[in-house]
Amino acid sequence: MHVFIKKDYQELSRAAAAMVAAAIRERPDLVAALPTGGTPVGMLRELVRLHQTEGLDFSKARILNIDEYVPLGPDHPQSYYRYLQEFLYQNVNINQTNTFVPDVRAADLQAACAAYDQRIAGLGGIDLMVLGIGGDGHIGFNEPAAELSADTHVADLSAETIRDNSRFFETVAEVPRQAATMGVGVILQARKILLLASGRSKGAVINRLLTQRTVTPHFPASLLLLHRDVTVMVDEAAAAAE
Ligand code: GLP
Repeated sequence: MHVFIKKDYQELSRAAAAMVAAAIRERPDLVAALPTGGTPVGMLRELVRLHQTEGLDFSKARILNIDEYVPLGPDHPQSYYRYLQEFLYQNVNINQTNTFVPDVRAADLQAACAAYDQRIAGLGGIDLMVLGIGGDGHIGFNEPAAELSADTHVADLSAETIRDNSRFFETVAEVPRQAATMGVGVILQARKILLLASGRSKGAVINRLLTQRTVTPHFPASLLLLHRDVTVMVDEAAAAAE
């Protein structure tokens, strides 16, 4: 694991965007998977800035959502597809047909998840996976459990995640209880992984990720220890163990 500690959220966002931009410049048809939530917003804004000021070219890039709430469609204000649309797609020259999300409104959700994995395979696999991390150590929506699914699947959200994510909704009751998410096998098959964390609220989970040398499904981020090319980028607040 390569670990980088940046001074603050702005520097973290710049460094993360620089890594994504370098990957796109090296391989213009990069296949990238992107997270949502509060953490990646600065990185996405910086990518838009690089597009506007330096002509960073997204015209051939392929981008996938890591996860999506069931059953929020692409037009729902809190859907994760809409999030990437707002923060990235509508501000850069990406071809919409190169943007992907699990079809969470399908009648057969299991088939929709399997189709997503086939789509990923059809794209030749994921070159760069950018991850956030939940307060309980979840990656994507792979929540702590006795067993973790390798493939894309529908997951029940934990009470902690529902509470954490309620800040994006009017009330806790509106937070969806399920999401389709890439499984841990899909995540670990990405050729390169960049995990981002910012702020004191992530201090405990980052401390655990950087010090624990055992792998357990009860702390899904620990599976990243099995991957050969993981970069963890955090700001000083998230690096300061309690
Ligand atoms: C959600 C998403 C994750 C994200 C996590 C952390 O649960 N499914 O992909 O990493 O939240 O979000 P935040 O960056 O807002 O702390």
